Amino acid sequence: MTELVIHSKNPNATFNLGKRLGKTLQAGSILALVGELGCGKTLFTRGVCTGLEVPTRYVNSPTFAFVNEYSGRLKIYHMDVYRLNDIGDGFGIGLLDYLVKGESGVIIIEWAEKVLSLLPEDHLRVDFEVLSAKERRIIFKAYGSRFAPLLSELGTK
Ligand SMILES: Nc1ncnc2c1ncn2[C@@H]1O[C@H](COP(=O)(O)OP(=O)(O)O)[C@@H](O)[C@H]1O
Ligand SMILES: [Mg+2]
Repeated sequence: MTELVIHSKNPNATFNLGKRLGKTLQAGSILALVGELGCGKTLFTRGVCTGLEVPTRYVNSPTFAFVNEYSGRLKIYHMDVYRLNDIGDGFGIGLLDYLVKGESGVIIIEWAEKVLSLLPEDHLRVDFEVLSAKERRIIFKAYGSRFAPLLSELGTK
C-alpha cells in the first residue's frame, strides 16, 4: 500500500491539496474521507471538486441530503454518511447503487469509516488529524493499484 503524509498549515493548503488531487482524478475514483467533525473533510472536498471543474459555490456538506451531485469534468457524488447507525443503513440509502453510478464518475464519502466494508478494494483513503486550530495531518492511503501513481504525483512539490 502506498502512503503519503502531508502537513497542512492552514485551510487554504488543504483546499489546494484537494484541488491538485481533483485535477488528476479519473472516472471510477472513490475517496474515503475519515476524521472527526471540523477536521477539514468538506473543505478538502471543495478543493477536489474545484479541481474537477465544479464551481466551488455549489459544493456544500450534504449532511442532511446524504448525497449531493455535481457536474464537472466528471459527475461527482458527494456523500456524508455521518448519520448512518450501522452498515445496514448503508444498504438502506442505496450506497451500493451509488458505487455503481460512481464507476463513470467520482465518489467522495465523508465519515467513510462507517462504510469501509462496503467499498471496493480500489479506493483512496484520506485520514485527517487535527494537530492545532490551523494544522492538520493528512494521510493518504492508496488501496488497490490505481491510486498509487496519483499519490507519487501529489507528493512531489
Ligand atoms: N489546515 C486546515 N485544513 C482544513 N481545515 C482547517 C485547517 N485549519 C483550520 N481549518 C478549519 O477547520 C474547519 C474544517 O471544516 P470542514 O471542512 O467542514 O470539516 P469536516 O467536514 O471534516 O467536518 C473549517 O472551519 C476550516 O477553516
Ligand atoms: Mg463535512
